[in-house]
Amino acid sequence: MTTAHPQKSEIESFNDSLARCGRGDQLFQRFYDLFLDSSAEVREKFRNADVRKVRRELKTAFYMLVEYMAMGWPECEAYLERIARVHGRQGRDIAPHLYDLWLECLLRAVKEHDALWSSEVEAAWRYMMGAGISFLKSRYDGPPLAPETARTGVNP
Ligand code: HEM
Repeated sequence: MTTAHPQKSEIESFNDSLARCGRGDQLFQRFYDLFLDSSAEVREKFRNADVRKVRRELKTAFYMLVEYMAMGWPECEAYLERIARVHGRQGRDIAPHLYDLWLECLLRAVKEHDALWSSEVEAAWRYMMGAGISFLKSRYDGPPLAPETARTGVNP
């Protein structure tokens, strides 16, 4: 056990909360309903996207983020780099201000689904998602996806 890790409790608390939200897709479905309802700009961004696929991928991205933060695995970092390029200026061009809205919609959805929601749980989500958001935002101006990555990773 690596209990000495300073962020361990946030990662564990986030993981436990995610597990309480259930294995089904209700959390992610509710989140995207809230997010798409929240602004015309968000709806416009998703206009040609396969929201079902994005919903599934978001769950994977959360697990990748956990592994990346807990273990620093390069495979997870490479996955997150690919996601960052999808969102960057040369990809879907997700402007940094949209992440605040994203986070508030996500926290609303988690609050509805986690029976043990508390200020500590909220802090853990903010901590973990804050790390993910900083990762994506810091790569906003980065290069676009290489065509073969885009083909295998983004398109169904
Ligand atoms: C930390 C925050 C976020 C994470 C972890 C995240 C994660 C993801 C993931 C995993 C995908 C699927 C990519 C793929 O494999 O094709 C995706 C797609 C997408 N995301 Fe995000 N996202 C975040 C924030 C946002 C925000 C704020 C927006 C603003 C509207 C957004 C808009 C999109 C769009 C439009 C797609 C579809 C891309 C496509 O299929 O072409 N995301 N996101």
